[in-house]
Amino acid sequence: MEINKKFVDTHCHLDDEQFTEDLTEVIERANLAGVTRIINFGADFKTSNNAINLTQNEGLFAGVGIHPEEIDDAADEDFADRLAELAQNNKVVAIGEIGLDYYWEKDIQRRELQQKIFIEQLDVARQLNLPVCVHDREAHGDTLKILKAEAKGLRGVLHCFSGSLEMAKEVWKMGWLIGVDGPLTFKNAAKLPEIVKAAPSNMLLIETDAPYMAPPPYRGKRNEPAYVVEIAKKVAEVREVTLEEVARITTQNAESLYNIGQGGR
Ligand code: NI
Repeated sequence: MEINKKFVDTHCHLDDEQFTEDLTEVIERANLAGVTRIINFGADFKTSNNAINLTQNEGLFAGVGIHPEEIDDAADEDFADRLAELAQNNKVVAIGEIGLDYYWEKDIQRRELQQKIFIEQLDVARQLNLPVCVHDREAHGDTLKILKAEAKGLRGVLHCFSGSLEMAKEVWKMGWLIGVDGPLTFKNAAKLPEIVKAAPSNMLLIETDAPYMAPPPYRGKRNEPAYVVEIAKKVAEVREVTLEEVARITTQNAESLYNIGQGGR
């Protein structure tokens, strides 16, 4: 590995049971590929704790939060306090993944509850001065509305970005980033290449979302952080720059957003 090609996988779930048997090898393969830092995100209290436990491994960091599909885990009145307490751990670099998922949730009241839990967690991020990792699936309008109204003073990323170029521009205007992963490399990537090409160089993160959404040639198989290099290659192709340049800008962006400068934290 050349020293000038270092990547950060800014979003994955290595606590998934698909990694139980070979986690050490998965992390080794990532390091060999130049992926020296990995951020694991929780989706509820259990997986947020898992993400924190994983930070015992060098180069691993955690995000904690309640995913919109897991809002029942936020039913207790003190859930925000409990989340804030978890987030005090010095390997926690973000609140996430939090947001809205209207693909899986069609019920209006449940969607409203997702919004409420999302906003409450934005408040936790503000209290603790942490960046936010947002999940937005088929809820672009409400996500943007909430971020504009409720995320003042916060920074963050729309991970696995699936909105339009117009939405991306709004996001960048707020100083927020977009995260791109497997779908950028798929044949039916639609507007993503255009968005990646248009992105200001300080507004782009790369991620795998492993074990989900493996890029080709691994599509359909388990995804893992080493494959973030495939995403970086595609970003390089689309932006017509070198892989080194993609490594440099995306790593710098990850370090800056998540405060994971060289030397760790
Ligand atoms: Ni995820």
